[in-house]
This record gives sequence, structure tokens and C-alpha cells, in this order.
Amino acid sequence: MWLNFFPTRQYEIHRCKAYLQVDWTKKLFLPRAWQREIDATQQFGRLTGYTASSFPNRAAMNPAHRLARKVSLITGAAQGIGLATALKFAREGAIVIVCDIKQAGVDDAVQQCQALGAQAVGFVLNVTDRAGIDLVVAKVKADFGRIDVLVNNAGITQDARLQKMTVEQFDRVIDVNLRGVFHCAQAVADVMVAQGSGVILNASSVVGIYGNFGQTNYAASKFGVIGFTKTWSRELGPKGVRVNAVAPGFIATPILATVPDKVLDEMKARVPLHRLGTAEEIANVYAFLASDEASYINGAVIEVSGGMSV
Ligand SMILES: NC(=O)c1ccc[n+]([C@@H]2O[C@H](COP(=O)([O-])OP(=O)(O)OC[C@H]3O[C@@H](n4cnc5c(N)ncnc54)[C@H](O)[C@@H]3O)[C@@H](O)[C@H]2O)c1
Repeated sequence: MWLNFFPTRQYEIHRCKAYLQVDWTKKLFLPRAWQREIDATQQFGRLTGYTASSFPNRAAMNPAHRLARKVSLITGAAQGIGLATALKFAREGAIVIVCDIKQAGVDDAVQQCQALGAQAVGFVLNVTDRAGIDLVVAKVKADFGRIDVLVNNAGITQDARLQKMTVEQFDRVIDVNLRGVFHCAQAVADVMVAQGSGVILNASSVVGIYGNFGQTNYAASKFGVIGFTKTWSRELGPKGVRVNAVAPGFIATPILATVPDKVLDEMKARVPLHRLGTAEEIANVYAFLASDEASYINGAVIEVSGGMSV
């Protein structure tokens, strides 16, 4: 009778989880057919590395809530791609931790997430401030008990050709885009490893793959982020933590506000889809990578550029 209570797929998942937990003494008292099924499931677990906790919980099976109750910390979440990601995660059922340098932007983003029915809190956080990051991570851990997802989104540009770039411009971009990603990832890594699960998503860029005129500092930081991603996916993968990068192409956000219209038109012409991307189109990819649907994606760099590279 209770079988009918669950949709079939959920029942299957509950049964697999239960089977992976059964020890051989209990198994001996069960009918032969069940014993065979348990053996097959446990063999599958040995081959794939699946444990009972690998299976998504029941709430997460609701396709409308792919990130149900996942405690998700997003840096640079006050505007642009970060804000779109916070809102997408809110719609997907996550507990959203909004971090940015601007108080007003943080408050506004938190309110927008809450208006979507999500639990959300905000912190004024500069990703170059390691002590501040450690405090936020400790507070989130204390309040919510865990951190499931980190989206290392905060980033800046300060463009100039090699011969014109000042050391200050170089250092500033490396500080935020590269060192900031290192600080945040290192701060959450212990929490995620102790949980045996977690997802770290890093904002790279097509500029981190192909380079770009006038962006020595930015290109170095975004190439570096790909190096982080591949290294951490090797170090943390065996501990249940997936690490991936997203490399957006030209996305219409305030970061492009200073780019002249003529250059924007040239950018569009380089994209086979003949348009800039939207922040939501990047947020969709972050949400997928953060979800259990991406459970076998680790160490990947996903280019989201409308086909710029073809
Ligand atoms: N927009 C694009 O075309 C594009 C393309 C490729 C990659 N990216 C990357 O995506 C990320 C987001 O880009 P965006 O276009 O939304 O940028 P954006 O400028 O619109 O937003 C960046 C956010 O990061 C915050 N921020 C800046 N410095 C910070 C710091 N030190 N600590 C915390 N927060 C800080 C800002 O306040 C802002 O809210 C960046 O890492 C960027 O490099 C953007």
C-alpha cells in the first residue's frame, strides 16, 4: 500500500539507499529475491563509489527545486551574473548566502531572493579580506550547519595594453579575481571535506582560454582560475567535493558598461548567435552544475559563449 504513496522513481531511490545500508547479518533474514537485489545494488555501489548519501534527498527530486535546502554562498551577488545566480538558486529552493562589497546591493539581493520564497541572508564581504571570509564561513556553518555550494563569482576588470598597464592595475585584478577565489575556496574546503560533499564553482572567462587584447591582468586571473579548478578537482574529488569552472563569453552586465557601442557591436559579430548572452543564461549553468544532475561533472570548464570558439 505504501508503495503507491511514492512516485516510482522516488521509491526506487529510497530502496537503493536502504539496500546500500543493509549489512550482511540483517540480509540473512530476508527472502532470497531481496538478498539478490541487495547484492546487485551493493556491487553497483562498489563499482561506482555510490553510497547511500550519494542519492539526492526526496525534496531534491522535485524538478522545480533542484537545489532544495542547499546552503549556497555566492560572491559578488549584488548585481550582474552573481545576482542572477542568487535569484536562480532561490527559485531552485536553495538557502542563499548573498555576499558583496556593497551593503545596499546585498540588502536588495537578499530581499529579491526572499520575495521568491527563499531563505536568504547577506554579508558585506570583500573577497580580498581573508579574515572577513573566515568569519562569514564560520557564521554560515554555525547558523545552517553546512555549506553545500560556493560560487566564486566576484570579479573585476581594469584594462590596459601591456605597455600601459600599471602594477596597481595588475595587482588589483589579480587580488580580486585570483587570490579572492583562492581565499574563498580554501575557507570552505574544510567544511565541505568534513561533510563529504560540496560543489565549488569558479567564474573564469573565454578570456581565460583565448586571451584578449588589453586584458593582461584579467586573462592571467581567469587562466589561473582554470588551473585552480583542475587542481582542486583532483585534490577534493576523492573527498566528495566537485569543482568546476564556467567560462562566459560576452554577457550583458554592468561589467561591460564602459565598453563603447562600436566594440559591443564587434563583440556581437564574433558570436555565431549574433548577440550578447544574458546573466540568466550563465546562472542556469551554475544551477545545473551545483545540482545533483551534474554529479559526474568534475574538473570541467564549461564555455557559455554562444559558440564564440567555433
Ligand atoms: N559579463 C561578462 O561578459 C563576463 C564574461 C566572462 C566572465 N565574467 C565573470 O563573471 C563574474 C561576474 O561578472 P559580471 O559581469 O556579473 O560583473 P559585475 O561587475 O556586473 O558584477 C560583479 C560583482 O562583484 C562584486 N565585487 C567586485 N569586487 C568584489 C570584491 N572584492 N569582493 C566581493 N565582491 C566584489 C561587485 O560589487 C559586483 O556586484 C566576474 O568574475 C567576471 O569576470 C563576466
